[in-house]
Amino acid sequence: MKLIVGNWKMNQNQEQVRAFFSALKSGPRQQEAWLAPQALHIGLALSLAPHDIKIGAQNSSEQDSGAFTGENSPATLKDLGASFVLVGHSERRQIFHETNVTCAAKTKRALSHNLAVIYCVGETLTEREAGQTLSVVKQQLRQGLSDLGGWHPGQLIVAYEPVWAIGTGKVATPAQAQEVHAAIRTELKEMYSAAGQAVRLLYGGSVKPDNVKELMGQTDIDGALVGGASLKATDFLALCQ
Ligand code: PGA
Repeated sequence: MKLIVGNWKMNQNQEQVRAFFSALKSGPRQQEAWLAPQALHIGLALSLAPHDIKIGAQNSSEQDSGAFTGENSPATLKDLGASFVLVGHSERRQIFHETNVTCAAKTKRALSHNLAVIYCVGETLTEREAGQTLSVVKQQLRQGLSDLGGWHPGQLIVAYEPVWAIGTGKVATPAQAQEVHAAIRTELKEMYSAAGQAVRLLYGGSVKPDNVKELMGQTDIDGALVGGASLKATDFLALCQ
């Protein structure tokens, strides 16, 4: 079974969240589905989502509590019923200046609360054109995922999202995605042996119902992280088929 994760980013009002889940209930889903609404809508989404859909957050603090105005505590997310968090999404890295070091702290803290972490990596267009894709991604893995403390298999997921493919309609070819996924698999195996081998790898970047099948057919692609196409229930259902 593949894992399809919807990242709603800063979209959807309450009415749209309600409409999405009521439409979702009407359609069949063959793959595992998780959704990350805005943190403000996690409670609402949990009250509406079918039980087999996990709800998570798009970001969480590297701290549990204290004087950190505007931050979302991973402890509180867990308390609320969230199951997972995205860490190091390229928009967090680029717009909010998160580094591999920040991402490492966030990952470790979220794992300690028994949240699953979807750790995002990916190169910019300039880096790809300079032939640096694999070295950039390896560095993001090494610096972001070393010294994690305790975690159990299944708790860590890695999403490969080439920055040039996010929200642009320019999807990586299945071969381009597979090449990087295979390198990520090798790196994780070196870092964590059998546990690393079992980490699920998602591809993200302009995944749509019409290109998902070919991408999911690649050996090292275990699922997708989807932005734009996860906002409409009909598209999300199509992806989950
Ligand atoms: P997109 O976004 O599917 O709209 O390209 C993917 C993501 O940012 O996770």
